[in-house]
Amino acid sequence: MRAQASKGPRRRRLRSFNPGNAVFLVGFMGAGKSSVGRALGQLLSWDFEDLDDRIERREGRSVAEIFREAGELGFRRAEHGALRQVLEDLPSTARVIALGGGAFVQEKNAMLLKSSGVATVFLDAPVDELWKRCSRQANDTGAERPLLGSREQFKKLYETRRKTYKKASIMIQTGNRAVDAIAAEIIETLELKKIELRVQEGEVE
Ligand code: S3P
Repeated sequence: MRAQASKGPRRRRLRSFNPGNAVFLVGFMGAGKSSVGRALGQLLSWDFEDLDDRIERREGRSVAEIFREAGELGFRRAEHGALRQVLEDLPSTARVIALGGGAFVQEKNAMLLKSSGVATVFLDAPVDELWKRCSRQANDTGAERPLLGSREQFKKLYETRRKTYKKASIMIQTGNRAVDAIAAEIIETLELKKIELRVQEGEVE
């Protein structure tokens, strides 16, 4: 199940848009983008959002249905539209956003993120571990990943995409590590600040 962007008392308005208000998590299927994103959001008291959730809300159907009914091209169009909307929303909230595994490898998405000046974090792990995580999840939860394919197809797609993921602002290894430790490393590396501290420092109302 995917997490919803959290709402409620923790949400604060920022005085102005600052690219430091947003972190985008990128990486292959099974990299832990959603679980690390949720932990990061909690540690920082920032909102968390999964881009695939926004796509599903906007389209009124699941990612798997979009793939079935509109093909990968239709999904990529929907994904790009949702990403543009997220970036337009950013001025008002501090947010961690997990992107689907193919979003950052679409050149126009990577360019949009780059020109917005936001931080991108490539979460990586050995491909065998990524495969194990995805196949375990499929068995345990029935999670449908349209591009999972066979083990060989999965590995090949990972190898093709990895050089593009490496263009992210930073790269973090997630293999065999606890989600909180990964989130803490992102905070330290990007020098991200908790919302309370930003209130004290007058960055946030
Ligand atoms: C995709 C990964 C999926 C989802 C869609 C396409 C991909 O997200 O966006 O099925 O191209 O790798 P996760 O990376 O969260 O599985």
